[in-house]
Amino acid sequence: MQYIPPSNLRGHDVEPLLANRGLTADWFNTHDFDPHSAANVARHSYTEAAAKIPFHYRTAVSSLPQLRTWIDTLVADAKAVQTERGAPIASVNTGPSLLLLGSTGVGKTHEAYGAMRELAVTGVSARWAVTTAADLYAALRPRHGVDSEAEFARYRKAALLLVDDLGAERKPTEFTEEVNFRLINYRYEHHLPTLLTSNVEPKELAGRLGDRVTSRLAEMCERVAMKGNDRRRRAA
Ligand SMILES: Nc1ncnc2c1ncn2[C@@H]1O[C@H](COP(=O)(O)OP(=O)(O)O)[C@@H](O)[C@H]1O
Ligand SMILES: [Mg+2]
Repeated sequence: MQYIPPSNLRGHDVEPLLANRGLTADWFNTHDFDPHSAANVARHSYTEAAAKIPFHYRTAVSSLPQLRTWIDTLVADAKAVQTERGAPIASVNTGPSLLLLGSTGVGKTHEAYGAMRELAVTGVSARWAVTTAADLYAALRPRHGVDSEAEFARYRKAALLLVDDLGAERKPTEFTEEVNFRLINYRYEHHLPTLLTSNVEPKELAGRLGDRVTSRLAEMCERVAMKGNDRRRRAA
């Protein structure tokens, strides 16, 4: 693991995340040149996460207790495996998944990126792949000169995966259903922690995503329903 000097991260708003975890900025900025120290792993994970977080959500802080518990579980599992194997650092590799449900604008994406930021500062290595379902389908459309299976593997096999807006497309096609199934089935079989968001009503999930996908999601995910108004309209 690369050593990330503390000065590189000045200006990032990590203090509320650290506070949520009972950690301090002094700890986060420990300058000991040890690439395996938990503080360096935190800076490394945060730097990698920050590159994947859209500008709009760069200061997001999650407030859902279920996300906090999910992060606790991932961190505890990563540390348990580290101890068991005597590994130099703790890494998130397997664990439960979480499905955030709610209508447009309730704050699903904000919560998801808040969770990603918070997991990053805990001091375990957390390597995310991030996509919206729509971008994933677009990236995987068979086209000349692109190895879409290799592209798919980047998401399917990612240690942690955020799939934003699953089921949002107006008309599911055979292609999108196949992508959903292969993606969810792989992550289900390998216990790969996945954070999903969807604005589909819970009772319509099976209709939108198909029984095979919904059944796997039911087993692998904790479902969290978010209620509220569209925050975007309120802001406008
Ligand atoms: N807890 C929050 N605090 C401040 N702003 C928020 C919060 N949750 C969401 N927002 C803002 O409200 C808007 C809608 O949130 P977003 O997460 O994009 O909704 P969704 O993904 O559910 O459609 C965005 O501008 C987002 O930045
Ligand atoms: Mg969203």
